[in-house]
Amino acid sequence: MRHLMSPMDFSVEELDHLLDLANDIEANPEKYAHACAGKKLATLFYEPSTRTRLSFEAAMLNLGGSVLGFSSADSSSAAKGESVADTIRVISCYADIAAMRHPKEGAPRVASLNSGIPVINAGDGGHQHPTQTLTDLLTIRSLKGRLGNITIGLCGDLKFGRTVHSLIGALIRYPNVKFVLISPEELRIPDYVRDDVLIKNNQEFKEVIRLEDALPELDILYMTRVQRERFFNEEDYVRMKDFYILDSQKMELAPKDMMVLHPLPRVNEISVEVDNDPRAAYFKQAQYGVYVRMALILTLLEVKVC
Ligand code: NCD
Repeated sequence: MRHLMSPMDFSVEELDHLLDLANDIEANPEKYAHACAGKKLATLFYEPSTRTRLSFEAAMLNLGGSVLGFSSADSSSAAKGESVADTIRVISCYADIAAMRHPKEGAPRVASLNSGIPVINAGDGGHQHPTQTLTDLLTIRSLKGRLGNITIGLCGDLKFGRTVHSLIGALIRYPNVKFVLISPEELRIPDYVRDDVLIKNNQEFKEVIRLEDALPELDILYMTRVQRERFFNEEDYVRMKDFYILDSQKMELAPKDMMVLHPLPRVNEISVEVDNDPRAAYFKQAQYGVYVRMALILTLLEVKVC
């Protein structure tokens, strides 16, 4: 039985297969409409979510399966003090696969060690968010045509932004990927990513503060929100929250074929006027999230569709 905790759990070849499957699902949705008939997905969300939970549910429904679950810790037995280990043991009796989001780093891993069904990490604290990374890889590969030979700017809250940590881990495995890490001093990438992932793998990267300086050289700009819920005090958040605002004026500094991504939700960091720019790909990205989660569910449940 296989779980997904980090994008690194899949080899590059396995990722290629998964993304090919997602593209086939996009092109031929009817072929997959009953692939998971009779199967159930449990969504165990101890933290707020719109896209991740609903795209998982949409993915399972598109495959002809059904869904059950909870969308906040308050409405589950966690409120009574039940451990994640006990919860997953019980859920294993009710469902065939589970997606778990939790504010504590490592909680989905604890669940996977006690589970009778595949567990997917749907975001654990400020740590990892592998299914967002699968979404990002599918979006980049589908719209740019490649995952190597790119310069990608990651901008915003690189300290707490789990989508960035997972995406860096996945992209270093492709040739000639250059990272431009754009953040204020206080929200720089954590040491465990800089030292253990980037430096250890001799990865080319630079850290800059001004978005304007980075824009002209980017193939992809990946914007992120300042992660309010992970700050120790509100004052620091308020000081940081509008540090970057991508607007039409700044977009003029960017190459004509640069692509703007954002895992969403957006707060102020991308002005709504940018939504009409053909380079804005973040809503398309959300759509890819459904296809890739369909492909992931099929893969972990070992369902083959001919
Ligand atoms: C992200 C997350 O939860 O980390 N959202 C998502 O799943 N698309 C990004 C964020 O909340 O800023």
